[in-house]
Amino acid sequence: MAAFPVFHFASALVHLSLSLIISFLGLAQYIAHYLSTQTYHQFIFLSRNPNPALTARGWQVLPVDYNNPSDVRYKLVGVDTVISTISGQAQLSLIDAAADVHVRRFVPSEFEGSPRQRPEDDPLDRGQKLALTRLREKQQRGMEYTIFTCGIFYERFSPGGMAALQLGAGTHISAEGSYILDIRRQTASIPFHRSGDGVYICMMSAEDVARYVVAALDLPSWPNEFFMAAERIKVDDIVSIAEVMYGGLLQRRYYDKATLMNDISFALETCDDSEHWRLRHLMATLQGRYDFQETNLNQLIPIQPKAFVSWLIAAWSNIT
Ligand SMILES: NC(=O)c1ccc[n+]([C@@H]2O[C@H](COP(=O)([O-])OP(=O)(O)OC[C@H]3O[C@@H](n4cnc5c(N)ncnc54)[C@H](OP(=O)(O)O)[C@@H]3O)[C@@H](O)[C@H]2O)c1
Repeated sequence: MAAFPVFHFASALVHLSLSLIISFLGLAQYIAHYLSTQTYHQFIFLSRNPNPALTARGWQVLPVDYNNPSDVRYKLVGVDTVISTISGQAQLSLIDAAADVHVRRFVPSEFEGSPRQRPEDDPLDRGQKLALTRLREKQQRGMEYTIFTCGIFYERFSPGGMAALQLGAGTHISAEGSYILDIRRQTASIPFHRSGDGVYICMMSAEDVARYVVAALDLPSWPNEFFMAAERIKVDDIVSIAEVMYGGLLQRRYYDKATLMNDISFALETCDDSEHWRLRHLMATLQGRYDFQETNLNQLIPIQPKAFVSWLIAAWSNIT
């Protein structure tokens, strides 16, 4: 599609102007794809880097220096909605600039479990807690914000891992086999409660998350948190689905809370970084951080998200 600087259209089409703050692949590119194919919204990317792959698709990419507040403000003038997929200090700078230039809506980089389920001292925090505090302050001054809680991306189970799709670099578990299923090695790591209570997660493909986010842009009002899920499923059942897809049994290793705490300590002591983050994500799963029982966005948007079993079979269909 033709991409125009949103500030040229700000006065006439301010409600249609969008800015995506992102890198060149991953979630942001899915969002851009659906924006350009399903809507008439104008959008631009902000990135620290030139992204020839994006510009080749006709999308406009503006360079940004998050350490320079006036540069960030300048890039956001006339923008209606910011969708952020960045974290840390850079996202704080983006929030401040957006509020300064009266952006109407801000979507923070929160496409996972609900912040309500996080512990006070969260080892997985990448600056989200500070960002949400800042957004609550800015809301008092008129900038709306909404979190899109969606649970786990199916792409955690992709061949090549999330990294193959330019997703999840900041999670430390973007390599194949880093989360629950290691299909190629035929193993599964399963968090469980000794009480016998099931460990559940909500899930959706990143592509469907993007479809919901884009469709939600046209909703007249947003709560502070949207919940959406394609599946709410027991971890054991994820493993069973993978076994059916794979056509054989996976070697299951079960982790209760005490085992996880012990193994996390050992990984820290031995400086085994990848094991440490892998176990932290299993612990987060055990703690129910990716589980919620009610959705409020599925009901508002007539999209049929892909089922996990179909997604998994398609993802692994050509892999030997
Ligand atoms: N639910 C799930 O299972 C799941 C899994 C993975 C990710 N996610 C969500 O997806 C979103 C993106 O996470 P991610 O881990 O894929 O991305 P990420 O690694 O955090 O990076 C996203 C983009 O942020 C920019 N960036 C990175 N470091 C930066 C820095 N120091 N300063 C400024 N900008 C920086 C980069 O864009 P430029 O280089 O273009 O500037 C990068 O491509 C998050 O909201 C996360 O919650 C969800």
